[in-house]
Amino acid sequence: AEPEAIRVALLAWYDQVHTTRGMPWRKPYNPDFGPEERAQRAYEVWVSEIMLQQTQVATVIPYYNKWMKKFPTIRDLAASDIETVNGLWKGLGYYSRAARLLSGAQKVVKDLRGRLPDNAKDMEAKIPGIGRYSAGAICSIAYNQCVPVLDGNVHRLLSRVLALHAPPKVKQTLDILWNAATAMVEGTHRPGDINQAMIELGSTVCKVREPACETCPIRPWCQAYAVSRGSTKADEVPD
Ligand code: ADE
Repeated sequence: AEPEAIRVALLAWYDQVHTTRGMPWRKPYNPDFGPEERAQRAYEVWVSEIMLQQTQVATVIPYYNKWMKKFPTIRDLAASDIETVNGLWKGLGYYSRAARLLSGAQKVVKDLRGRLPDNAKDMEAKIPGIGRYSAGAICSIAYNQCVPVLDGNVHRLLSRVLALHAPPKVKQTLDILWNAATAMVEGTHRPGDINQAMIELGSTVCKVREPACETCPIRPWCQAYAVSRGSTKADEVPD
């Protein structure tokens, strides 16, 4: 496809209402931030991305706000304990996520002077619980670095754009999709917004069932749409 044309349409859609849409973890990237402020943004985005992994945005917002009030910095989190952390997590489910945040924060304070790494490679290598997706999300959003994300939403979106008929979890498929996700952010000024736009388009428009193709900003580039000639029947769109 043509990444630049898709990016322009994607960002126009993302900017249409208001890019934060009430999500407190979405703050404009500030190039004047020093290392300390950048690491603080990374902490905030990290917490939000872990909460958002298995939970909807509307549910996450009040939990995120409560969490940040209790643990404004990664040092506040590291000084806490699993009971307190689980208490704040009550109702969100998948409690291992909370334990991973706590142990990750403790490692950052103990070994990295309280600062999350300044790049995706080190983040993935040094922080247990931060995988390729989280490192990509944190570094693109908090640091404005051109690193890709591939979650379930982006996987489905890009599979459809490419009309990729392939078993979803095999390495070859994932390689193709990570490469496509990389092409989307390579050389852009707004990698964090591109990534969040793809995640949001995947979850709100390019849905698993009955995708809302008629409102999709990147429909002109979608090969699955072209093949199905606009049918919105989920079973005619490749997963
Ligand atoms: N789901 C996962 N990450 C997200 C983000 N940054 N914004 C909205 N939804 C998300």
